[in-house]
Amino acid sequence: VSVLEIPVLIARKRDGGELSADEIRSLITAYMAGDVGDEQMSALLMAGVIRGFSEAEAVALTEAFIASGDTVDLSDLRGPTVDKHSTGGVGDTTTLVVAPVLAAAGLQVAKLSGRGLGHTGGTLDKLEAIPGFRVDLTPEQMHEQVERIGLAVAAATQDLVPADKRIYALRDVTGTVPSQALIAASVMSKKIAGGADTIVLDVKTGDGAFMEQLDEAVGLAELCVRIGEAHGRRTGALVTDMGQPLGDAVGNALEVGVAIEVLRGERDDRLAALSRELAAAALALTGEPEPEEKVSQVLEDGAALEHFREFVAAQGGDATVADRPWEVLPSAPIVRRWAPGAGVVRDVRTRRLGELASLLGAGRQRKEDVLDPAVGLVVHPRIGDRVEDGEPAVEVHARTEDDAARVLELLPEVVRLTDEDVRSVDLVHRRIGMGS
Ligand code: URA
Repeated sequence: VSVLEIPVLIARKRDGGELSADEIRSLITAYMAGDVGDEQMSALLMAGVIRGFSEAEAVALTEAFIASGDTVDLSDLRGPTVDKHSTGGVGDTTTLVVAPVLAAAGLQVAKLSGRGLGHTGGTLDKLEAIPGFRVDLTPEQMHEQVERIGLAVAAATQDLVPADKRIYALRDVTGTVPSQALIAASVMSKKIAGGADTIVLDVKTGDGAFMEQLDEAVGLAELCVRIGEAHGRRTGALVTDMGQPLGDAVGNALEVGVAIEVLRGERDDRLAALSRELAAAALALTGEPEPEEKVSQVLEDGAALEHFREFVAAQGGDATVADRPWEVLPSAPIVRRWAPGAGVVRDVRTRRLGELASLLGAGRQRKEDVLDPAVGLVVHPRIGDRVEDGEPAVEVHARTEDDAARVLELLPEVVRLTDEDVRSVDLVHRRIGMGS
């Protein structure tokens, strides 16, 4: 593709046409070389979001992304290697439970994670709430750690799928995140380049997800599974509810604390249930005959918690967090409770809730913002739950009284009650590529 043809390609996409694999590869190469401008890439992305990309285009984008950088080879590790990825959620802390569970069950977990994006949280930001924890492992350190203790969770280096890094940053600020092809290429290029032979995806749907509609989320999950399998990876996906926060906590240290409670067997909620499901899905993909039983066993006999302890210590963190999470994790100076009155929870505006946590300092308003690990929200009831008069539904953990007051004022439009009965919402809507 010559530079002169770029506007022609953009116009073709604008008019609903399709780009060939060669054209997509050349475009991404030219973009990374600085021969295609951000404005041209943004226009092309927007045309694709509106018109839709074909499956062939999604596959070509994935391959062009992978080819933009290095790939990791984990083939010398003993036992199946596994990675998991969520398309992004609120209170979505499953990695902190799933990774040690899988390591305790004998898999090799080499997990590449991201930072919070928009209203969603990121595993790296959460882990950094643990005093001393480091996420910037070199590929060699990551490899060595997985070999030694069975798991590592780290940031992808600059050299792994650099095209996704640049294009993701553009999408974040140009309204071009919600596209099946773009999300699939972004997620699957990182997972494939990361080297794991088994990939489990948690594709979110609902108001707090990037793909809000169930049928679109299912389409995304199916596309990701086909791309993974075409690259010889065992790939499965669960399509799960993000129409309310997954765990009670939204905010970095708070989410680490509740994940540790799940590992300690002290919490039996939707976060625990989905963590178990995802771990069982990964085990099923690797041929484990009784995946659910295996997950229960390593949670109950303490093996998962022990792997979490070793993992935190290996990455420089204070491992006593596994024993005394609320003493070791940073806590906010101001905690205010909000009681909505009596009624049944009708809905929770999950995206808004993520934004409020961000406003408190748990997420970034701008790329360069420094997070406050201690702040966030704790949301107790789920859709369909009854709240009694005076019973607190939400806790606001804030740095200042002003921050707390600002958020308290907005909560009535976020958690809404009714007098009527409301059905609880299913947690897992679909299982894809799981043989049933
Ligand atoms: N998560 C990703 O890694 N990429 C996307 O495009 C959306 C969610």
